[in-house]
Amino acid sequence: MKTLRSPKQKPANQARKSLRYYAAYSEGFVEDVIRSLKLPKDAVILDPWNGSGTTTLVASRLKFNSIGFDLNPAVSQMAYSRLASMPDMEKAITTVKKAFIKSHSKQLYQYLGAFEKWFDEQSISHLSALRAAIHKSSNDSIVLGLIDTAICTGLREQLTAFKTKNPSWLRFCRSHEKKISLDIALLEETTIGLIGQCTPQASNSLKPLLQTKNIIESGLQSASVDAVITSPPYCTRIDYGIATVIELAWLGLGINAIQDLRLQMTGTPRVRKETFSANENLPFSVKELLEAIETHPSKASKSYYLKTYHQFFNDMYLSFEELHRVIKPQGSLCVVVQDSFYKDVHVKLPALLEAILETIGFEILGKTPYIAGGLNFIHGNNTVNEVALTFQKKA
Ligand SMILES: C[S@@+](CC[C@H](N)C(=O)[O-])C[C@H]1O[C@@H](n2cnc3c(N)ncnc32)[C@H](O)[C@@H]1O
Repeated sequence: MKTLRSPKQKPANQARKSLRYYAAYSEGFVEDVIRSLKLPKDAVILDPWNGSGTTTLVASRLKFNSIGFDLNPAVSQMAYSRLASMPDMEKAITTVKKAFIKSHSKQLYQYLGAFEKWFDEQSISHLSALRAAIHKSSNDSIVLGLIDTAICTGLREQLTAFKTKNPSWLRFCRSHEKKISLDIALLEETTIGLIGQCTPQASNSLKPLLQTKNIIESGLQSASVDAVITSPPYCTRIDYGIATVIELAWLGLGINAIQDLRLQMTGTPRVRKETFSANENLPFSVKELLEAIETHPSKASKSYYLKTYHQFFNDMYLSFEELHRVIKPQGSLCVVVQDSFYKDVHVKLPALLEAILETIGFEILGKTPYIAGGLNFIHGNNTVNEVALTFQKKA
């Protein structure tokens, strides 16, 4: 396989406020993978952990049919927003302007998800009026995705006081702190500015199928997918539920619903109720890692941490089994994975996932290593590596 551009997003892209999904990989990487696979014109590309929709965006630009699943409804909004054409952007701006005007006159306090954790009652009344006005005037997923993503980015900018060291985390307002009073004029200005910053897509690009779904139960037909290109969740302290708490609140999810969602996500730092033991089909190398965590002398290794690792590897096994079912014989699977550290234990995730995939019936074709960017607080100042692994489903 030819050299693939790095999956790491370029700084210029990261700075684009409207596309700030923490976990996104680069469009250039996805484009190189798709081109290298030499797929037939009618091929179907799937990203089971689609996040902000980089795979589905690039696939649709290259005129391939594509499907993107993600368990988190908040990120589907982002994936839709990135598909917007110039006419979609114009519609979004007109809708937003009208909705802001309406929201000044029609306020009534209505529960609006987890926003009560940061905003005062008057701000919530204003936000619920705004949301109702927007959703009354448009039901186009792309236009709404664009508006919702821009508004949530604007809201986030007014909540910088609640940021923490972990870039994916936003703490709640403490009982002694005053809740935030929303600056609605600023929100309108930022929202319109952000919509205008998007890169418009061609109006005739092929639209992907985007769904909020757990990949473990994809519902897709067996042998219906030509290629999977994806970056799965890792088992680190990145919590995708919390990373999108504002977007989830805007969708109306309260704290309990957000907690339930976090619990279901692969790689969650929360522990599910059922008692876990490792799936017995997991390869020896994974069992060895689980044993190293179980016998680690540090606090809660044997209890809490072991359970989160069990959950992660069991979920990954089931997800890859499902992908094996839906991929056509000799179809491709390209996964971008990073290694990480549990205390001083090196979690060589690329090698561990490779072993799982081989157990399930995939053959490795290529490995492209990259140096991953530095979230040092997660990795204890260790350098971590990112690897793009390419497999073929055995015939
Ligand atoms: C590393 S991110 C993917 C980022 C994506 N490549 C992009 O460019 O935005 C992994 C995604 O997996 C999703 N996820 C976690 N568990 C899932 C599950 N069981 N089924 C489907 N998606 C899941 C998370 O919500 C997160 O968006």
